[in-house]
Amino acid sequence: MRTLLPVLLLSVFCALVAWQCEVQQSFAEGERLYKANCANCHMDDGVGLGGLIPPLAGSDYLTTHRDALPCMLRKGLEGPIVVNGKTYNEKMPGIPTLTPIQATNLLNYLNQAWGNQNGLYRLDEVTNAMEKCASFN
Ligand code: HEC
Repeated sequence: MRTLLPVLLLSVFCALVAWQCEVQQSFAEGERLYKANCANCHMDDGVGLGGLIPPLAGSDYLTTHRDALPCMLRKGLEGPIVVNGKTYNEKMPGIPTLTPIQATNLLNYLNQAWGNQNGLYRLDEVTNAMEKCASFN
């Protein structure tokens, strides 16, 4: 046990550091995807645009529609929605080619950027949601 403990501690430490590195890389990828695909409407700082584009920073929709978001990114959204008590009714285009990994990184970016503190998505839950969404066609 005396010799095993340091080895054990070291491997736990490495696992934690590797996980931390992975999270940071995924966040950077999410940010890159956001800037390329979403920021032109929702703005770099996620505040949206007046009565036309709803905000993502501080949006209650992110938590109330958590399960629907992976599908929404792929298919887009239209019809009236309420975000933080305000109604929006414009069309948002989807990205049909978005992969589950990209969607996970993107969603985790939204949920942690700009002071947002919503729970992280796991890849398997996003994959699941996107598979179900494909069969709605
Ligand atoms: C062409 C402009 C446009 C682009 C590009 C766009 N959105 Fe949207 N987004 C909208 C509009 C408009 C709505 C409201 C749709 C409605 O009224 O039904 C919306 C709604 C949303 C919502 C739900 C409401 C909220 O504010 O929480 C989320 C989440 C969202 N968009 C995320 C994204 C992400 C992530 C991307 C990039 C992959 C993106 N949007 C790209 C215009 C856009």
